[in-house]
Amino acid sequence: MELKQAIEKRTSIRSFKDQEIPAEDLRQLVRMGGQAPSVNNYQPWKFYVITRKPMLERMADVVKQRIEELPANQSIASKNIKNQVEWFATFFQDAPAVIALAMEDYESVLEKGVDVSHQDINILRNYPDIQSAGAAIQNILLSAVDMGYGACWLSAPMMAKEDLEKIIGIEEPFHLMAFVAVGVPSKDIRPKSKKGLDEIFQLID
Ligand SMILES: Cc1cc2nc3c(=O)[nH]c(=O)nc-3n(C[C@H](O)[C@H](O)[C@H](O)COP(=O)(O)O)c2cc1C
Repeated sequence: MELKQAIEKRTSIRSFKDQEIPAEDLRQLVRMGGQAPSVNNYQPWKFYVITRKPMLERMADVVKQRIEELPANQSIASKNIKNQVEWFATFFQDAPAVIALAMEDYESVLEKGVDVSHQDINILRNYPDIQSAGAAIQNILLSAVDMGYGACWLSAPMMAKEDLEKIIGIEEPFHLMAFVAVGVPSKDIRPKSKKGLDEIFQLID
């Protein structure tokens, strides 16, 4: 598939056929993620691929529990909103595979020459670690389309990050950043419409 076609065909897929993904395809998706650009080419990532159903259910349970613990506000919609968010944060439990992206601290060149902490440099540089993670995830999403799968990027489950790290077995210096749920789409979903070019493009010449 051409890159342009994969970009235009990609849309978030949240409902999957009950069909396993061959390990070789999962390896290929992660290989593509690992080809992404990263700060100083540090590649501060590790990809944990979970296909074990009971583990996915346990992961969804801790996310649900975390959402339940969030204090509700006074709005009438509060309960509905919580239910809605719960679904967007836990549908991954029915995916054939979930890729958990974990990141470690990178070493900035600047860090070696100035007396500024890693954390402050990260803020000054606008979180290059998070930006690197985004590049890796987009590579995975587009590769999934190219290989006939559908996928969805998830950050909502990170509300239960520490519990999830324990379940998955992510240890220091790595920290959980995001999930990508992957599988064969259960139905055809048309990509969402996006802002027109005129709205987002400004040529400064
Ligand atoms: C950083 C990030 C976090 C996201 N987190 C979630 C999530 O937790 N749950 C979910 O269902 N979708 C999540 N999404 C998917 C977005 O909702 C989706 O990309 C958006 O609605 C646009 O739809 P499209 O991907 O089909 O173009 C996330 C997307 C991004 C980029």
